[in-house]
Amino acid sequence: MGAVTRFISATPDSRLLPFPWGTPLADWPVELLVALPRGLSRHVVRFIQVGEAVYAAKEIVEHLALHEYRLLQELHRLDTPSVEAVGVITERRDRAGTPLDPILLTKHLEFSLPYRSLFSASVRQETVSKLLDALVVLIVRLHLVGFKWGDVSLSNILFRRDAESFSAYLVDAETGELHAHLSQGQRLQDLEVAKTNLYGDFLDLQAGGLLREELDPQHIVDTIEAQYQDLWKELTGVEKFGGDELGRIENRVRRLNALGFDVAEMDIRTDAGTSVVSIQPKVVDAGHHQRRLMRLTGLDTEENQARRLLNDLDTWRFRTGQGNVDESVAAHKWLMEVFEPVMEAVPASLRAKREPAQIFHEVLDYRWYASQRANREIPIAEAARGYVHDVLEALPDEAMSPDSVIPVAEIKKLVNPYDPSMGYVDDDEEQPYDPWEDQVEELRLPADFLDIEALRAKSRASSQPAMMSRLPPPSEM
Ligand SMILES: Nc1ncnc2c1ncn2[C@@H]1O[C@H](COP(=O)(O)OP(=O)(O)OP(=O)(O)O)[C@@H](O)[C@H]1O
Ligand SMILES: [Mg+2]
Repeated sequence: MGAVTRFISATPDSRLLPFPWGTPLADWPVELLVALPRGLSRHVVRFIQVGEAVYAAKEIVEHLALHEYRLLQELHRLDTPSVEAVGVITERRDRAGTPLDPILLTKHLEFSLPYRSLFSASVRQETVSKLLDALVVLIVRLHLVGFKWGDVSLSNILFRRDAESFSAYLVDAETGELHAHLSQGQRLQDLEVAKTNLYGDFLDLQAGGLLREELDPQHIVDTIEAQYQDLWKELTGVEKFGGDELGRIENRVRRLNALGFDVAEMDIRTDAGTSVVSIQPKVVDAGHHQRRLMRLTGLDTEENQARRLLNDLDTWRFRTGQGNVDESVAAHKWLMEVFEPVMEAVPASLRAKREPAQIFHEVLDYRWYASQRANREIPIAEAARGYVHDVLEALPDEAMSPDSVIPVAEIKKLVNPYDPSMGYVDDDEEQPYDPWEDQVEELRLPADFLDIEALRAKSRASSQPAMMSRLPPPSEM
């Protein structure tokens, strides 16, 4: 077995050292792997169990591994929703001394759902809209920090439940570039690639019978563009009004907060001659409600979950006559008297099914419906018990846990449980087909079809993306 010669990591994990780095990832013994759902990929990707943690390992050429590692670190530092880099293992050699590609390690994003787990023949239009909303917010957030992705596609995004909605995370930064600021041209170019890739993704879903008939890929892609433009304008656009309408400054901030963004700086200009005021939010940070909830309770949640929990906290505070009590004192009481008892009602064996904040959100919904039915107000503890019994017990597991995988594998046998994209053994249907994964000459598409593979080949050919000047060399990481 070849020795690890180089392990680059800002957060070294010594438990990783004994792993068989001298073996190609595809040949790793299954005892080291965890079978979890994942999206399509060109590289070999496996999930490995390291103590309690699960890491995603991707075998990839060195310059891309280092590039992606540094970008993911930067994106994490900039607080954008992306998977977290753990390290890169380089200078691998097999027994015969033949060099092997490096492995990029990232933390497995718990409770994440690749899009194929979310799409089924019966997926509702509303669900697709919510996924698209999340996707647009992700692209806009990345553009706000100067990140040009270059490869937005459904397989490069992970979704997590966020109250009634979803939040989207970047999972593949290989083609990305981080700049101090993106020009309009760079943003629109990224959006064009996104539209091309996503159009291909939705056609692929349609061909596989996973998209409802009324959902038209072209319309979906047009909607994404329109939503992107609207959100970008709201977050960054200049607004002009007369000097007698100063309330519009406040309104703009409120609108941004309602969208989940905080304004760090508002550029306000007044023209004494015409008394026209122009305002432009200069820096906006996502996570307005997340930050407030975190500050008050220490709970780390998604944005819409935070919104829902804060709503409950504010209502509870008002109803229990604590309007004048210090906000953080009341929040602590709410945590102890409302939130924690709900969590305690969930047996340990069911905790892998949903994140705590998502459970709380679903209990609130359950209580509302149960109260309507019973024509009385159901106490939260009673609602929690009812929810566990009526809803949670029947839900499939979504968290990372060995139990979350076995039932799926039992229902249908995967060709390779560590590579779910290969499909099921006894599948009558064709395996998920992604034209991008085939060679271009095998494409059975008309010549004038969107040439995604050529686009990819081009990005592969120029795959030495601009390195970021502000990042330290690997030796300093
Ligand atoms: N940290 C992670 N947490 C959860 N899932 C992950 C993680 N890293 C990778 N995955 C899963 O593995 C899949 C493939 O990863 P990735 O997109 O990085 O591979 P790739 O070969 O570079 O893809 P592409 O073909 O787009 O270049 C993702 O779609 C995702 O489902
Ligand atoms: Mg990918």
